Amino acid sequence: MAIEFIATGSAVPPRRVYNDDLPTHLDTSDEWIRSHTGIGSRYIAEKEIATSDLAYAAATEALTMLVESGKATSPEEAAESLDLIVVATATPDYNGFPATACIVQDRLGAKNAGALDLAAGCTGFAYAVEAAAGILTMGKKRKRALVIGAEILSRISNWEDRSTCVLFGDGAGAAILEKTSAPSEGSQRRGLLASVLGAEGSGAEELILRRGGTRNPWEKGEVVEIPPHVEMNGRAVYNFAVRAVCDTIEELLEEAELSVEDLALIVPHQANARIVQAAAKRLSIPEEKFYLNIEEYANTSAASIPIALDEARRMGKVKKGDSILTVGFGAGLTYAGNIFVW
Ligand code: ACO
Repeated sequence: MAIEFIATGSAVPPRRVYNDDLPTHLDTSDEWIRSHTGIGSRYIAEKEIATSDLAYAAATEALTMLVESGKATSPEEAAESLDLIVVATATPDYNGFPATACIVQDRLGAKNAGALDLAAGCTGFAYAVEAAAGILTMGKKRKRALVIGAEILSRISNWEDRSTCVLFGDGAGAAILEKTSAPSEGSQRRGLLASVLGAEGSGAEELILRRGGTRNPWEKGEVVEIPPHVEMNGRAVYNFAVRAVCDTIEELLEEAELSVEDLALIVPHQANARIVQAAAKRLSIPEEKFYLNIEEYANTSAASIPIALDEARRMGKVKKGDSILTVGFGAGLTYAGNIFVW
C-alpha cells in the first residue's frame, strides 16, 4: 500500500504588488527587499476575498486534474470521491471555528469528506500531508484526501512595519493524496516514503500573532490601533530556519535511504532565498536542486510549498517516478518535511 500524490492545484488573488508599488511610508526599496530576501512581488487579496476562497480555487484546479487524468468522470464525482479535507492555515476565515476546511468542503460538494484545519505556521502543509496520510492509512474505506495550504497573510501584516510586511503574500496550493496498491518499499516503491515533524516551542515568542486568543483577548470598549499582526524576531527565525532546513533534509534522506543525487527536486518553504542559499551551501547541495518562486509570490506561509510543487509540476520539473523532498519551517517554532515518489 502507498500514499501517492495524484494531483495538485494552486491559486492567487488577481492583484500583484511589486516592490516598487509598496506604500511610500514604508521607507523601503526594491533593492533592499531583493538583496535581503529575493522577493520581487507578492499577490494581495482584496477585502472581499477570504482564505477559503483561495483554498477553494486551488482545490478546484486539483480536482480538474483528477478528471483530466481519468481518475474521475466529472468535477462533481471528483469532489464526492474525497474522504478527507485538511486545510493548513495560520489565517483561517474565522478564529477558532468553523474550520476553513468545512467551508471548502461545502463549496466543493465534497459531502463524503471529513474536514479539519491544521495550525503549524509556515510548516502546516508538510504536517498536513503526514496527518492526511496517517488518517487514510487508519481508515479501511478511506482512499482520497485533499490537502490544502492557504493564507491571506496581508491581513495579519503590520503595514507600518517594513521589516515584516514586505515579506508576505497571499495564495493557496492543494494536493490530492490517494491510497493505492503500489508498493511502498523496494526499488519500485511509490508515494510518501518518509516525513519529519518537529517543533521547538521554546521559540514560540519569536514569531507570534499576539492578540485575539485566550492569552490576550480583546477587552470590551478597547480601541484597535492596529489589527492583530505578525511580530517576528527576523534574525532568530533566520538562524533557526537554516538549521531546521539542513537537519530536516538530512533526516529525510537517511530515513528514506536516498542521497541528494536521487532527488529530482527539493521544494522548500519560500521565506527568504538567502535561507535556501545558506542551507544549500552548508549541505553542499547545488542551488539548482531547490525550486524557488519566492521572487513572484513572496512568503505565502502554509501555501508556499504546495504552490511551488504545483508550479514545478506544470513546468515539467516533476515527473512520474521522480523523488521529491519538501521542507518547511515557521511559527511555533515548527519544522517538517516529506519525501515522496511522484
Ligand atoms: N527595507 C529597508 N530596510 C529594512 C527593511 C526593509 N523592508 N527591513 C528592515 N530594514 C532595515 C532594518 O531596520 C535594519 O536597519 P538598521 O541596521 O539601521 O537598524 C537593517 O535593515 C537590517 O535589518 P535586519 O533585520 O538585520 O535584516 P536582515 O538582513 O536580518 O533581514 C529578514 C531581515 C529578511 C526579516 C531576515 O532576518 C529573515 O528573512 N528572517 C527569517 C524570516 C522567516 O523566515 N520567516 C519565516 C517564517 S514566517 C511564518 O511562519 C508566518
